[in-house]
Parts: sequence; C-alpha cells; structure tokens
Amino acid sequence: MCGIIGYTGKDDALEIVIEGLRHLEYRGYDSAGVAFFNGTGFDIMRCKGKIRDLEVHLSDIKTTSSIAIGHTRWATHGIPSDHNAHPHSSDTVVLVHNGIIENYMDLKGELISLGYQFTSETDTEVIAHLIDLYHKEKDFEESVRLALKRLRGAFALVMLSKRYPHMMIGVRKDSPLVFGIGDDGYYLASDVPAFMQRTRRVIFLEDGEMVIVTSEGYRITNFDGVPLEKEVQQINWSPTMADKGGYKHFMLKEIHEQPRAIADTIMGRINYNTMSVKTEEFMLATDTLRSIKRIFIVACGTSWHAALAGKYMIEQLARVPVEVDLASEFRYRLPIIEEGDLFIAITQSGETADTLAAQREAKRLGAKTLSICNVLGATSAREADAVFYTHSGPEIGVASTKAFTSQLVSLYLFSIALAEAREKLGRDRCRTLIDDLLKIPEKVEWILKREEEIERLAKIYSNVKNFLYLGRGILYPIALEGALKLKEISYIHAEGYAAGEMKHGPIALVDEYLPSVFLVQAGELRKKVLSNIEEIKTRGGKIIVLKSSAVVDPLPEVDNIIEVPETNEYLEPVLMVVPLQLLAYYIGVRRGYDVDQPRNLAKSVTVE
Ligand code: AGP
Repeated sequence: MCGIIGYTGKDDALEIVIEGLRHLEYRGYDSAGVAFFNGTGFDIMRCKGKIRDLEVHLSDIKTTSSIAIGHTRWATHGIPSDHNAHPHSSDTVVLVHNGIIENYMDLKGELISLGYQFTSETDTEVIAHLIDLYHKEKDFEESVRLALKRLRGAFALVMLSKRYPHMMIGVRKDSPLVFGIGDDGYYLASDVPAFMQRTRRVIFLEDGEMVIVTSEGYRITNFDGVPLEKEVQQINWSPTMADKGGYKHFMLKEIHEQPRAIADTIMGRINYNTMSVKTEEFMLATDTLRSIKRIFIVACGTSWHAALAGKYMIEQLARVPVEVDLASEFRYRLPIIEEGDLFIAITQSGETADTLAAQREAKRLGAKTLSICNVLGATSAREADAVFYTHSGPEIGVASTKAFTSQLVSLYLFSIALAEAREKLGRDRCRTLIDDLLKIPEKVEWILKREEEIERLAKIYSNVKNFLYLGRGILYPIALEGALKLKEISYIHAEGYAAGEMKHGPIALVDEYLPSVFLVQAGELRKKVLSNIEEIKTRGGKIIVLKSSAVVDPLPEVDNIIEVPETNEYLEPVLMVVPLQLLAYYIGVRRGYDVDQPRNLAKSVTVE
C-alpha cells in the first residue's frame, strides 16, 4: 500500500505534505516524492529511498506554496527508483496514486500510438497522460471524469492541474481516501494519520466518489458529477493508534487488511472473458508449464505452511508431483534435481537467507525457479527466472498474516493455471474454481465481523500452558500455522499435528488442561476428523471446533464451536486461518506481550 497526501489552504503546503508523509512511513515504502505549486508552475521532487533523502533535495527550496501533494511508494509495477517514484505528471496534470490499474498496458499502448512518451514503468503515469488527453480541450473536473471511465482496477488518486493550479481533486475506487476539513485548509490522504495532528474532522470517501477542492471550499460528487451530501465525522483515535490506521496493533490491522490484500493479489490475474487464469502472470510459457515433471516448493516458517497447502492444490488439480522442503534442510539433503523440474520459493520478504540459499542451489542444479514474493525487486524475485508478486502491501507485524493468505491465493491461481495448461481442468470446473475465489474477500470480511467471538475464546484460554491444533488433508498445514501463530505471539507452547496421527503417541498428552483446536472441513475427511474429536473427548480433553458452515453432521458435545463460510476444499485454508490468527492475537494481547514485535523474532531472517 502506498501513502498519499494532498493539501490546499493558507498554511505552508509543502511543510504539511512532508509532515503528512512522515506520519505514513509506518506503511512501509521504498521511494517518496512531492509536487507543489511555486506560483508559476509545479515543482516535482521525488527519489528512491526515504523521506529524509527527499528532504535533502528540498533543502534549498525557499518558496512557500498553498497547494501540494506527496507520496510514499510501495512498488507493485516498476522497481523502486527515482523515475518510478510518484508524483507522476503529463503536460497538464500532476498526480499521486495508491492502487493497481489492471488495464494500464492497453491504455499505455493507445496513448503511445497518440504520440505520448513515458518516462516510467508505472501504471500511474498512464493515468496522468490519459487525463491530459481530455484536458487539452475540457476543464479539469470533466477531464478527470472522462479518464475515470477508462480505468479498471483499484485507485485512490489526488490530482492537480497546471491549468487550474488552485484546484485539487481526489477520487477513490477500491483503495482508501479520506478528506480532512481544517480551519485553514483541506487535506486528502490514504489514511487519517497523515493529517490527524492538524484536524480530526474527516469525511471517509466511498468507492465511486470524487471531491473537488479549492481554497474557497469543496464539493463531493459521484464519478458522474451528481452532488452528494456526506457526513463529517470526528476522529477520536490516540496518536499511537493513528499510526496503525486506528487499530491497536499492526498485526490486527493486517489481519483486517486481508480482504483487500487477497483482492489485490487476484487483481489483473484473471481473464474474465474466458474465466481463466492469465498464465503470463507467472512468467512461465505454456510449453514450460506443460513440460514440468516435478515441482519443489521451498520456504521457511509461515511461508512453508503455505507451501504444504500448495502441494495439495497442485497435485490434486494439476496432477504434478510436488516435494515440499524447509529451506534450511533443502540444500543439505543433496536434492536430486532433474531437467524439467520447477523450484518455487515462497517468501514474503524475499530476503530470507535459508530460502535464498535453497533457491540458488536449485538454480545451480538446473531447476527453473519461480519466486512468490511480496516485495518488488527483493533478492529472491531478482534472482529467480520468474516471479509472481503477492500484492498484500507492506507487512509490518512480525507475525505473517495477510502475506500468508495472499500466498495461498497465489498458489491456488498457479494450480489452476498449471492444470489448464496441462488440460486437467474442464472449462466449467475452471470457471467454478475462479468464481469461488472471487467470493473469498467478502467471506473473510464475514469472519472479521465476528471477531468478538474469538476475543471471548481468547479470554477463556489465555492462561493455558499448552495447545494442540489438529487437522487433516489440506487443513493439516493450517493446524501447523495456527500453532505457530500462537507460539510466536503468546509464547504458549502449541503443536500442530495431523489429526490422524494423535493415536500414534501425542494422545498421551491429553487431559482436562489441554485444549485441542480441531479444523473440520466440509469434504469426506470430516468424518475422520469427527472421530478424532471423539478420541480426545473420551480422554477428557477440552475441544474447540473450527468448522465450515457446510459441516452439518451432529457434533459430539464440545467446549466451543466457531464457524467459517463454506467454500471449496482448496480455499478452506484461507478462511480457516483467519480465526486462528485472531485467536493468537487476542491471547497475546491478554497476556500483555508486544504482538507486533515478539521477543527473539525478526520480520525477515536474513542470516542462516
Ligand atoms: C511467520 O509469522 C514468521 N514471521 C516467520 O515464520 C516467517 O514466515 C519466515 O521467517 C519466512 O519469512 P519470509 O516469508 O519473509 O521468507
């Protein structure tokens, strides 16, 4: 997620915008920039790096300005660099953008054919030239409206016009934008923290809304220009909460960002005409996908749990053998890599030392390498033959949450693309799998709306000494993930186990002090899990059941039941993990620990 801010009013606009960007730094970024009206035109300053680097460029600016915009970039299209940093501009327009424009390549081709020249690889620059195309003849507001009709994807935009230098326009579609009303001016930003120290009177714009601001006042309309009456709200967050977008911790914020992160990871990857996955997004030719003999998926920690779930998806949908390894083990087991093998590294940071070492070893042995990574231009992404970026935005909390569900969705997309290339999926089945995926963001939203149920559960179990998480099939890796979340956030010992394995030893642990979380899927395996529940129940263990709403079998008397919405067997992991993330979070908070920075842990383990 990028950070955007704009200001127009009586105060020093440049100073306010820089201050606002500082309050957005927590979102994580790799470049920054500002644009401001200098009395005759717009000055634009932008650079790769941090705001302090930008301030060096600004140190000799003497003019004060009444209107300015600013941006911190988290790269999704085009590597972090000066020329890809925002603001982007055209002959008549300067703007900053947060989001992803799906059809930017088509628009770019059209604009190039009309003689436009581009200086960046970003989707954002396309918007500046598209508005310019209309602004040659039409006024600023109308030009923006015409351009918006051509955009597909997610965008929050704050725009200035060289022809109307005292006007600022903000629009929002699928990417947040908030309007601040101050005594001496108006603010537009992706998040309240950018201007909260100057005003707490805000209007949260909804999708499809536009605000037109001049120093005299503002108007809010829909994208067709129909005026809208919007309520002004008073923000009562504390300054620390402000830095987390109103949430108490980054971890909770990122758990709640999952619907958006999943939607952004899907965005641009589906061909809606054929209802198929765009294989080019994996940068692997169809012939390559057809000729793959075996796949290795290698990762660490939570990313390794995604790898384990990916094995079920790929083997069952595409019928290609998959080996999953812990990165720290892979290169020491002298792996046998053959011509036609594909090595997939899964890594949120793209900098995990063990995963990089495994990826390099696989490449040395002749495998084709694909990196599933969340950081544009990270080492794993740069060194792999192919890269598929998750678009979950910067993940600040050490415990991986939104990156994990984005990894699962990426593996799901890959499995469908691979299965289609190898003609293992009929059209109808493929359409159904994609339809199921498109419903996931709202189903995660449904679970998040019921987080109080999980908070009550945390209250009951926050002082236990040990926990068991049990699942079968594709939910076994989710049992591992639930246990890891609890361990790393609350420091309670927790074990994830294959439910069918309990009777081979661990059941000796069961007594009335040991809670077991059972993950119960809707498919045939649910009967086996239900009998595993009986095994624990007869030995007096406490039982928490987390089940799909499609499971209607009678349950034995258990201590707690949590439901998640129904979906297909390959997407159940995405829904089942959300309550487990929340359980770990609320138990960790109740135990008074720093859930964002747990002891002994680093966000990216860049040493072996
Ligand atoms: C997960 O909550 C942990 N933060 C950790 O296990 C993490 O998943 C692991 O270190 C791998 O990191 P990566 O995805 O950045 O490679």
